[in-house]
Amino acid sequence: MLQGKRIVLGVTGGVAAYKAAVLTRLLLAAGAEVQVALSEAAAGFVSPMTFQALSGKPIMTRLEDARVDNGMPHITLSRAADALLIAPATAHFLARAAQGLADDLLTALALARACPLLVAPAMNRQMWEHPATRRNVAQLRADGVTVLGPCSGLQACGEEGEGRMLEPEMLVKALVAFFAPKVLAGEKLLLTAGPTFEAIDPVRGLTNLSSGRMGFALAEAAANAGASVTLIAGPVAQPTPFGVERIDVVSAREMRVAVLERVAEADVFVSVAAVADYRPAQAAGRKIKKDAEGLPMLELLPNPDILAEVAALPQPPFCVGFAAESENLETYAQAKRRRKKLPLIVGNLIQDGFGGVSNRVILFDDAGAHPLPFADKATLARQIVDNIAQRLARNQGKEPA
Ligand code: PMT
Repeated sequence: MLQGKRIVLGVTGGVAAYKAAVLTRLLLAAGAEVQVALSEAAAGFVSPMTFQALSGKPIMTRLEDARVDNGMPHITLSRAADALLIAPATAHFLARAAQGLADDLLTALALARACPLLVAPAMNRQMWEHPATRRNVAQLRADGVTVLGPCSGLQACGEEGEGRMLEPEMLVKALVAFFAPKVLAGEKLLLTAGPTFEAIDPVRGLTNLSSGRMGFALAEAAANAGASVTLIAGPVAQPTPFGVERIDVVSAREMRVAVLERVAEADVFVSVAAVADYRPAQAAGRKIKKDAEGLPMLELLPNPDILAEVAALPQPPFCVGFAAESENLETYAQAKRRRKKLPLIVGNLIQDGFGGVSNRVILFDDAGAHPLPFADKATLARQIVDNIAQRLARNQGKEPA
């Protein structure tokens, strides 16, 4: 995800410095090259040796360092970097960076850099809320610095509130998002994902094996590509992707209401959900007993077809459907696409698509079939997002971004 990216990771002196060690490992695992620079205070929290062992590179802590050819790591490091990430960034560091001070290695790096600067603030909630910090953060944003977090929760000092550094996994996702080409900048995407659950009684229902992975991967890829993304999710256990607004629903009818409430705003609607085609005519108000009431008979009613309804609106967004089939993928997927009047449908076989982390998909449009190589769902999601962006650009008479 970060293959070939050269990251200078600056660590300042806060308790969250220990998480920077995990962050170093995750960045390396994502394919990045990592050079760590520590403030003197950070070196008091976590030993430079820890970072050296993890990154495989000598650690810089001082403004003057004879190990660098010109003795000036604040120049050399940033010239060879794609991004400078300060995590954790203390209130003290933010204040000095906002003022353009350069009295230690990390502030000098920030001032002398020739690459983007990202900061992940970490501090006590009162320090974060203090007007001085608000001013400093606003100044940094105005200077083009990307501020990641902080998030809210229990703090090392025992208080609870906003000021916790984003977890290392989240920071890696934020970096991936930062580097992703913004091919959907300015577009609003509405997606559905996961199964629906149609209640039979308070504990039983009709559903399917959709995990939500394909839809959540698409939501994440679209948000990384600069779109504003709303994801309407059936009952799944997937974490909400970074930067995505999520609305949880249970049944097809709830999903329909959630979609119709928001579709007027959307430029693109991607219907990945495996919506149950039928629901029980009536859900029992109490648990159906096994013995006392004999064999229950289920009367079924058809569910509304959300995608067909959206595509039939007087001014529909650009609609992308999905089709999961057991066989005859091209014939069935193209028939669905034409029946629902969609410019694009993504076909997959149920044995490839449902549940797992990988998939094999074919894009079907008026011109025919366009297979994508078998890949993990995150990779496919990026390719599908690129493909949608190219189609939007063509529709709008623009060159693809
Ligand atoms: O969630 P995962 O485990 O990652 O699995 C991903 C997936 C296999 C669910 C996904 O890739 C996929 O194929 N989704 C569509 C599932 C499906 O069976 O769709 P369908 O052929 O029933 O419906 C065709 C299209 O109409 C779909 O875009 C569907 O969202 C939409 N539809 C269907 C019925 C309905 N009542 N309303 C709808 O909007």
